[in-house]
Amino acid sequence: MNAVEKYLKQNQPRFVRDLADYVHFPSVSAQPKHNKDTAACAAWVAQHCRAIGMEARVCKTDFHPIVVAKTPRKKNSKKPHYMVYGHYDVQPPEPFELWKTPPFAPHVAGGKMFGRGTSDNKGQNLAHLKAAEAYLKTGTELPCDLTFVIEGEEEVGSESLADFLKANRAELKCDGVVVSDTGLPAKHLPALTSSLRGIAALEVTVHGPSRDLHSGIFGGSVNNPALALCQLLAQLRDKHGRITVPGFYDEVRELSPRERKAMRRLPFNAPAYKKFLGVPELFGERGYTPDEQRGVRPTLEINGLTSGYQGEGSKTIIPAWARVKITCRLVPAQDPAKIVAAVARQIRKLAPPSVHVKIEHGHGAEPYWVESEGAPAQAALRALRRAFGHEPVLLHEGGSIPIVNLFKRVLGADSLLVGLALPDDNLHSPNEKFDLEVFAKGQLMSAYLWQELGGK
Ligand code: BES
Ligand code: ZN
Repeated sequence: MNAVEKYLKQNQPRFVRDLADYVHFPSVSAQPKHNKDTAACAAWVAQHCRAIGMEARVCKTDFHPIVVAKTPRKKNSKKPHYMVYGHYDVQPPEPFELWKTPPFAPHVAGGKMFGRGTSDNKGQNLAHLKAAEAYLKTGTELPCDLTFVIEGEEEVGSESLADFLKANRAELKCDGVVVSDTGLPAKHLPALTSSLRGIAALEVTVHGPSRDLHSGIFGGSVNNPALALCQLLAQLRDKHGRITVPGFYDEVRELSPRERKAMRRLPFNAPAYKKFLGVPELFGERGYTPDEQRGVRPTLEINGLTSGYQGEGSKTIIPAWARVKITCRLVPAQDPAKIVAAVARQIRKLAPPSVHVKIEHGHGAEPYWVESEGAPAQAALRALRRAFGHEPVLLHEGGSIPIVNLFKRVLGADSLLVGLALPDDNLHSPNEKFDLEVFAKGQLMSAYLWQELGGK
């Protein structure tokens, strides 16, 4: 092990350069104009895996390619087989003007690398690749066989990977999946995430007149779709933060007093949290703490709202249409399909007869809860403790990683969620960053994890 630790320690400056190369690709999965960059990024990942000493291939899909890389193994290897999952695609960088340095020109300052995708998820999956590199380049025997699956559609719902898992079930069969795509509360608080929220998405368009109209000539005699949509949306939540859609909470499992007590043990500083988010007051469902509200309670959020003239100056029109993008975050045992149906039904019910409503259903994923008492979780906690030098905590995270449900359903494998993003790393926001000290500790954690899981 000393050789692995030493290798990691000595090569940090090069690893940081590798991360910068990785972040350079604008692999924005949601924007077709970046399809070439996304493919180039996949090729880079595969090439990097080969340079490290793995066998790697880029698998074409109907959308963005999937990279599969394997550590060398014996034909009838008896070692445990673990999959390491990550994604090379990133969220759109907009709004550009809020970035202090360009999103795809990675830049290091104050021990952090800034750039879109640094923490979500390039830095996190590269940490695992670097741990594998340390084993392979020092000739240290890996206690586990590893298969890396690094996809390009996580930020848009992982559809291709879902098909890929089903088609390659035998090859990908494993004892567990290791995923670093979540967070830790602070540098001195490494974390194993024991739950993720699910998600249900829909897009609603309210159509008014067949074209934009002069608001003076016609205004007052036809409904304004933007106003109609706003009035309708305003009725989806009450002033106490409860979602008013009938049936929304029917399946929600309340936490036990013991679970709630465990959550309250995590440090939380309301004034600092408020300041960090830049809000005058916190707001959330009455009767729950902020950590509960964002980790174990369901939500309904507007992610985007568009209508009418958005350019400079004014334009006196009644817009022809208004559109909203909505996602709900789900907790056990809510079902994404049922929730989308319930929200759509309520929207139709609230819509006035003076407009047409069109509803499109988007992606969905169930919430994920994993056993934190079992042997693999215990091994992960030991690896975290050794790498960070602090006692790890268990976290309920509010974000979603839809594919982990399929790892369970298709491969029968649980996911160990050992995240490396800090709360202020600006995931999905301008000035996303990744802490380079956490990067190094993440590599060590990965190196130790294979020992702990391999029983060595
Ligand atoms: N890495 C995040 C998920 C995450 C972040 C989980 C922080 C826990 C803590 C992931 O890349 C992500 O953003 N997922 C999307 C999924 C969606 C597009 C289906 C999400 O949560 O919005
Ligand atoms: Zn993300």
